[in-house]
Amino acid sequence: MEFQNYINGKWVKGRSTFQTINPANEELVADIAQADIADVDAAVKAASDAFKSWRLTPAPLRGEMLFKVGDILKQKKEELAQLLTRDMGKVIAEARGDVQEAIDMAYFMGGEGRRLLGYTAPVEMPNKFGMAVRDPSGVVGLITPWNFPIAVPSWKIFPALVAGNTIIWKPSPETPAISAAFVKVFEEAGIPAGVFNLIMAPGADIAKALVSHPDVRVLSFTGSTATGRAIAEAAGKLNKKLSLEMGGKNAIIVMEDANLELVTDATLWSAFGTTGQRCTAASRLIVQKGIANEIKESLVERTEKLKLGNGLDPTVDVGPVINKAALERIRNYVRLGEKEGARVLVGGFAVSVNPLESVDKGFFYAPTLFDGVKPGSMLEAEEIFGPVLSIIEVESLEEAIEVNNRSQYGLSTSIFTQDVNRAFTAMRDIATGLVYVNHGTTGAEIQFPFGGVRGTGNGHREAGQAALEVFTEWKSIYVDYSGKLQRAQIDNREE
Ligand code: UN1
Repeated sequence: MEFQNYINGKWVKGRSTFQTINPANEELVADIAQADIADVDAAVKAASDAFKSWRLTPAPLRGEMLFKVGDILKQKKEELAQLLTRDMGKVIAEARGDVQEAIDMAYFMGGEGRRLLGYTAPVEMPNKFGMAVRDPSGVVGLITPWNFPIAVPSWKIFPALVAGNTIIWKPSPETPAISAAFVKVFEEAGIPAGVFNLIMAPGADIAKALVSHPDVRVLSFTGSTATGRAIAEAAGKLNKKLSLEMGGKNAIIVMEDANLELVTDATLWSAFGTTGQRCTAASRLIVQKGIANEIKESLVERTEKLKLGNGLDPTVDVGPVINKAALERIRNYVRLGEKEGARVLVGGFAVSVNPLESVDKGFFYAPTLFDGVKPGSMLEAEEIFGPVLSIIEVESLEEAIEVNNRSQYGLSTSIFTQDVNRAFTAMRDIATGLVYVNHGTTGAEIQFPFGGVRGTGNGHREAGQAALEVFTEWKSIYVDYSGKLQRAQIDNREE
């Protein structure tokens, strides 16, 4: 099977191909046409041409196109979820959730076609009218990661389209098959040629060409902090608008009055769901001393029982990590953690899920808990992006919040407590873009702004109506129907 790039409404072969493999068994998923710089130029040209008419297509009709996309995604949910699991490994229930997030976003942003609200305000002169409207920004470049290969792109694609922009999408080379399948849905819905273009390639050259192309006015990126910063430098020099969503080191705070069973369920889900490869994954558990031993016991017992394997098997709890390099990276972090003096309570090794087979296939790492994590240590500070949770003990709520907020990242925090005063204090003082009370750190819904502070982001938000700020430009319009010159700030004063 071969998937191709989609440029100006046509599926385009590459001069060469690359491959995508299933991280659960290393089987080939598909051959992929590899885009080159000429394809980037062709895609930007197509998007620039298409912008002329897409921006004039009434927004309610653009919204209807998104409803159609939502309908098709619904019909194809299972087929897409299966391909998604084969492409990047997450367990099938989560793959269905990934597709569902795109369905939700399609309908939510489809509705924006009849809102895209601007406003009017009183003006200071008689016989004059003022309003602020949203204009599309133009051609936008989207660069997305493999961990939510449909959900995260949909946070960018749907608001960009409904606002009247045209798109060049560069997905992760780890998930090209599901990306192409996603674009096929838009084709089936009848998206006009050039409005939505797909370019796929390994390495950084294609993304760099997209970032530095003068006709791409807005960039939205989700991925690693290092790449995000490099994009920010390049985009800054070219005066482009840029929305960044990068690393996290999210914490679950547990107060001694918390419901132990709930904490255990939520922690396992947040730390080891998607094999810890969410930017919202919990990787620190900040526990008040009085309850720490009980929590550790219950977490160790339950972590040991988690079943690793191919995510297509519905009884599997934890799938593989994305590739061999990720497995190595996690291994090294764990070694480093031990060197720092932290203690592995459970896990701490790579796993063979088919021990009877002569050749070990797939990239599996055992869910791992670290105890005795010291302030300022690597385990406390760095995003591992794998199934590794560090336990940090504290005396009080104040100390817990202090430990939470000293992270270089600021995406998601949760607190478990039954005490309303503690809950509200935490809601006020936790310095992250997402806060959960009695719920893990994952599970954001698409109708609310999503994003983080400090090293996680650059002040923008995805999802909710906030997403429209990234993909629109405000235009303030004044209409003077007095028939004479009226000088603002001057002619209405008697001085
Ligand atoms: C991400 O990890 O990049 O809240 C996105 C969540 C999901 C989205 C995660 N709805 O965990």
